[in-house]
Amino acid sequence: MAFGSTLAAASDPHAARKARGAFFTPPEIARFIASWAVRRGDERILEPACGEAEFLVEAARCARERAAGPSAEGVALVGYELHESTASAARDRLAAEGVRCSILAGDFLGIEPQAAFDAVIGNPPYVRFQSLGGRQREAVSRISRQSGVAVSALTSLWMPFVLHATAFLTQGGRLGMVLPAELLAVNYAAPLRQFLMDSFAAVQLVTFEESVFPEVQEEVVLLLADGWQRGSSKAITWHQCNGLDDLASPRVASYRPHGAGRRWSGLFASRESLQSLEWLGAQGAFAPLGQWGRIALGAVTGRNGYFVLSEKEARRWGLGAGDVTPLCPPGSKHLRRLSYTADDHRLARLDGRGVYLFRPQGEPSEAARRYIEQGERDGVAAAYKCRTRSPWWRVPLPAVPDAFITYMNAYGPNICTNEASVALLNSCHGLYFHEGIEDGVRELLPLACLNSATMLGAEVVGRAYGGGMLKLEPREAALLPVPAPSLVAACAGELRAVRPYVERALEKRDFDAAVTLVDAVLIARTGADEAGYAQMKSCATLMRLRRKKRSKAKKVTP
Ligand SMILES: C[S@@+](CC[C@H](N)C(=O)[O-])C[C@H]1O[C@@H](n2cnc3c(N)ncnc32)[C@H](O)[C@@H]1O
Repeated sequence: MAFGSTLAAASDPHAARKARGAFFTPPEIARFIASWAVRRGDERILEPACGEAEFLVEAARCARERAAGPSAEGVALVGYELHESTASAARDRLAAEGVRCSILAGDFLGIEPQAAFDAVIGNPPYVRFQSLGGRQREAVSRISRQSGVAVSALTSLWMPFVLHATAFLTQGGRLGMVLPAELLAVNYAAPLRQFLMDSFAAVQLVTFEESVFPEVQEEVVLLLADGWQRGSSKAITWHQCNGLDDLASPRVASYRPHGAGRRWSGLFASRESLQSLEWLGAQGAFAPLGQWGRIALGAVTGRNGYFVLSEKEARRWGLGAGDVTPLCPPGSKHLRRLSYTADDHRLARLDGRGVYLFRPQGEPSEAARRYIEQGERDGVAAAYKCRTRSPWWRVPLPAVPDAFITYMNAYGPNICTNEASVALLNSCHGLYFHEGIEDGVRELLPLACLNSATMLGAEVVGRAYGGGMLKLEPREAALLPVPAPSLVAACAGELRAVRPYVERALEKRDFDAAVTLVDAVLIARTGADEAGYAQMKSCATLMRLRRKKRSKAKKVTP
């Protein structure tokens, strides 16, 4: 752990650090970025969110080496840090290392930019836009206006940080940052990807197979952008590392995105497999899932332990049909099938699973009143989410979805029709079919989606999480390439014929077998060549293995 983390932990609890995105960088990464940024030893270097000065210490060390002298006088180091006591820990640390540096406590986003630095280096905070206060939101809007780059409300603080940081660079300057891998994939970062390619003469990325940032759930990448306003870039130099030990000798490749703002996540996929995927789209055989229907989040109760009831619990409290709503049990393991039927729901009920949501429809009954009073005694009314709604016990409930989509996946996403017509919690997304898609076609969508092209598409549109899971937000799920309704209608007979075999494979959790069965139907119908499908399959498998490998990396509890 970094210098001072024990000291910081004492005065700065984990929850508070998380709220402002305070996860400190491993020294190997800070050293790598600093030694890339410091070239002569007399540069002016800015660290906009310096934490306990890991990057600044490393920059001073590099400057000493480059200047071949005992002092770091030649280099000018400036750091900003929002958190006063962290800023003071940074000052102490730099003093202990004999480094001269100005550490300014305050919000970097509020600082008027001056193009005065040769390099900006660091690891900005990852804090969701929704968690920002009014003043920071205003600063983000101003930065967006000044840079001419759209910043959506879905963003996280790291994106305006990067934009603002570039405004401090002199022409030809360098930006070296640790960023979440969502830079490569998410739609809201498209304008930033475009901006980086347009504004820097050379863009490099460093990616890791293993998880190198044990405290952070999300995968990280290193961005090294050189030559600010000295030209633009068409290709990215990609350094692939297994772990930190490979930083000195990575595998190097060149990646040319189709368009600057387009996703860079194709980085991990072979060009041939992406071409096959695109071909399916261009033929009209595949379409984004959003063309089938609307995708929405499930209900957020605020305290599942209270709101979700088994049949026995509902009976014990004497709750009647008007007090509870039939619910798909929390979790998603039971939805790794093609349909969730009334029979499945009956079995879940007999199994004692949570099959009811406490949600009185009109005036609560006597029994419901007693249950509400119990909730108040147990402090549920004051829980986050409950205290912000009125009455606290009425959970906002989206309409019953036509199908469920699993969004946290070890293998790939699974769609499952909701034949039991039960409500949905936020452990899955809901799919609401558009009008005009026939029932006979709708029911085949889950089966048709178990194919190599969709699995590859999921790896490209989704986000790999530190735990090795692939996550799909509703907007990402809407982009998932799936067989188009016309293709499913055209091969309905063949799909029905393989259905029992696919069901059996899913029961055994043999997803590869299920995908092979469906591929065989689709290959014949799309006119795609087998080699293309084989490419997509092996590429999806490689990307999945890459995710899983990261989940095996050791975890450090902060
Ligand atoms: C991810 S940590 C990285 C710290 C340091 N750069 C490192 O890599 O070890 C982000 C830091 O930014 C600070 N921070 C958060 N919001 C900030 C803001 N608006 N201005 C300056 N610092 C901020 C946090 O307190 C935290 O120390």
